[in-house]
Amino acid sequence: MSQPQQHATQYLSDYRPYPFTLNSTALSFQLAPDNTQVTARLSFQPRDPANPRDLVLDGGKGLTLLSLTIDGAEPAAEMVLRQSETLTIRAEALPRTTFVLETEVQIDPSANTAFEGLYISGGMFCTQCEAEGFRHITFYPDRPDVMAPFDVTIQSDKPVLLSNGNPVESRPGMARWQDPWPKPAYLFALVAGDLVAISDRFTTMSGRDVALNVWVRPGDEDRAGFAMESLIKSMQWDEKVYGREYDLEVFNIVAVDDFNMGAMENKGLNIFNSKLVLASPETATDGDYERIEGVIAHEYFHNWTGNRITCRDWFQLCLKEGLTVYRDQQFTADMRSAPVKRIADVQTLRARQFREDQGPLAHAVRPDHYQEINNFYTATVYEKGAEVIGMLRQLVGDDGYRKALDLYFDRHDGDAATIEDWLKVFEDATGRDLSQFKRWYTDAGTPHVDMQESWDAANGRLTLTLRQHTPATPGQPEKPARVIPVAVGLIGPNGQEVGKTRILELDQPEQDFVFDGLGAQPVVSALRVFSAPVMLNRQIDDDMRAFLLAHDTDPFARWEAGRELALSALTDLAMGKDAGAGYVDAIGQLAGDQRADPAFRALCLNMPSEEEIATRLAAAGTTPDPDRIHGAREDLGRRVANAHAHLLAQIYDDMAVPGAYSPDAEAAAKRALRIAALGLLNRIDGGDRAEVLFGTAGNMTERMAALSCLIRRGRGQAALAAMADQFASNRLVMDKWFAVQPMAAAPEDAADVATELARRSDFDWKNPNRFRALLGGLAANHAGFHRADGKGYDFTAEWLMKMDRANPQIAARMSTAFETWSRYDPERRAKALNALQRIADMDGISRNLGEMVSRMIA
Ligand code: PHE
Ligand code: ZN
Repeated sequence: MSQPQQHATQYLSDYRPYPFTLNSTALSFQLAPDNTQVTARLSFQPRDPANPRDLVLDGGKGLTLLSLTIDGAEPAAEMVLRQSETLTIRAEALPRTTFVLETEVQIDPSANTAFEGLYISGGMFCTQCEAEGFRHITFYPDRPDVMAPFDVTIQSDKPVLLSNGNPVESRPGMARWQDPWPKPAYLFALVAGDLVAISDRFTTMSGRDVALNVWVRPGDEDRAGFAMESLIKSMQWDEKVYGREYDLEVFNIVAVDDFNMGAMENKGLNIFNSKLVLASPETATDGDYERIEGVIAHEYFHNWTGNRITCRDWFQLCLKEGLTVYRDQQFTADMRSAPVKRIADVQTLRARQFREDQGPLAHAVRPDHYQEINNFYTATVYEKGAEVIGMLRQLVGDDGYRKALDLYFDRHDGDAATIEDWLKVFEDATGRDLSQFKRWYTDAGTPHVDMQESWDAANGRLTLTLRQHTPATPGQPEKPARVIPVAVGLIGPNGQEVGKTRILELDQPEQDFVFDGLGAQPVVSALRVFSAPVMLNRQIDDDMRAFLLAHDTDPFARWEAGRELALSALTDLAMGKDAGAGYVDAIGQLAGDQRADPAFRALCLNMPSEEEIATRLAAAGTTPDPDRIHGAREDLGRRVANAHAHLLAQIYDDMAVPGAYSPDAEAAAKRALRIAALGLLNRIDGGDRAEVLFGTAGNMTERMAALSCLIRRGRGQAALAAMADQFASNRLVMDKWFAVQPMAAAPEDAADVATELARRSDFDWKNPNRFRALLGGLAANHAGFHRADGKGYDFTAEWLMKMDRANPQIAARMSTAFETWSRYDPERRAKALNALQRIADMDGISRNLGEMVSRMIA
């Protein structure tokens, strides 16, 4: 089997400080679509003048060097060495003290389809520099531990010219910005375009006045208000909860249509994928609104956790991302419902991170090697990175957490820090030794925790025996025990809580925990709030699960009991066993529980996805059969609908929200429950309700739900045509239109549906959102993507190869559709491997896609 072209691997252990400090960076841009000139004046100082070193600057192939001077003089030609990704100036040509290097380069933003560096989106110039995009703009030490204040001049005929920091000069055709806070190049940004702002102001806690702007294309202003509200809430929250204040005169957000990720925290100038800014009731769903609020917060929070304190090197990515995700999760919990947010986060973690951890792409929260850093913006770094912080907090308590964070900001403001620094502030603030805890950062894999109960009636004593074991992951065969906080509550036979929730600290391979003084044998509620990102195996039957579903006071554990009932029924059904009666009963009781929060009831009514069922089967050592899984889920859904048709219809009617649409949590919760009921009823009413709803709903949340139901019943054509007609010119809505079709199609049709859609002239595949919509839509159809004849694999592989030539980051990210390929049957495995092999053999494969594919077929 051939391996793809190998690219160099970077190792954490090779870290060395940069031999020069950078005192200041002055940039001047003359913007033109295919010929932009960039002048950089960089003031360097050797760190160790006694030991002269070459000056090595990063610079991509697209840079044409026009001139180079050192303190105003041109060095001899042999002193300057251009290699494919660097520019080196020999030590002999460099002064021993501070000197100014000035370069002039030419670049071509119009040819930039990778959307990394300076590019054009919808006629607007914009930049994306994290992680290593700045080197496509000019020659520079493009690494996060080299920081400098920036002074940026932009010349362009575009009316709005933005960069980081504060505006210091502006007239037609030019603008100058100064950012006083030293920053690494990855936080640089520039925007030049025909933009309009919705504006507001914010007074910080110390009384400073900040101008706020959300910049969008003319015509989109009426969809930017929610983003602005979210920004103001985020600024208030970070002051109140973390004591963090904003530090510039202006905060700008810009929406762009072509963006590889969700959004970017550039200092004072956040750039957003337009789908995370623009929202109106007619075009955005409740989920979109919640994500906008969360991502606006996330990027804003980075101003302290990421920008004021940045990462020493890219191995430390979780230092800023894990912490910032943790903070945005707390924020959303405070703005909306904390238990519902927690359950949703656990679902995402399991769907994405557990999946990653179980397969060939498993890596540590802090990886120690990579070929392409862009491949490590993963669920493990982000979501597991946040879970690790949640565990830390449980271990040191809320006060300890607050003290540690205060110390972190105090001690490391202005630094490029490491995970070691982070753990040290917790140790210093709380006195706790975290050497074992550090394994959460260095060791990949999801621990399995087994729990055994033994009840000693004579002494009223319950003993819980906990064992931990973490399966091997690529490159890490042995996994020593780590410290795992397991939150446990006890519930008496009468349904009453016995004592308080206790955090058991499992730090050995096996350990006993004793509960004394119990009158009767309690039911154990384990892993409350999902206190650790582990897989818990316990002996438990459906009656106990139903008991917990009825009585547990911890909402996560209560939801989890229902989830486990569903999963055990579904996995049994998928293996041809008879199952599900207990689930059908229990779910009816919960659905009808008027006291429970509608959002919680909605979460309980939504059955586990096919992917989740497959993951569960695979973790238990069973080969998942996608078609049987699909059948089992359809069957159980129909049974629930039939058994509770009346109740569900009642819920569907009761949860209609009258009046004007509002995206608030309470209204969204009702719609979520209504839609969950609709999804079940749709299995027995032939799609009639969905048809009515599609025609009458005044908001996108219900319309999309109805559309998906109609497609599932094979009667989506008219609705799809109507939507395409109404929204032909709205990209974001059309992205949903592209995604829902392969996603909701019958498994046997999904790949053909995707193939047809890809032929349309409005399948603007170079737009990342459009590409993700179609390929992601197919990948989200589990049985459709894994169609037995390999059509789903082939379609995906063809497009990944095509995309790799335009935009390697997107190709690499979407290749994760294949990350579970090896858990299926030999026929599917052979077809998936064949598709992966074709990608691997492709001529000129990018470092991004090459690394992903080689890890997947290793
Ligand atoms: N740093 C961004 C975030 O998490 C994500 C991002 C990474 C955006 C790389 C663009 C490129 O907020
Ligand atoms: Zn982030």
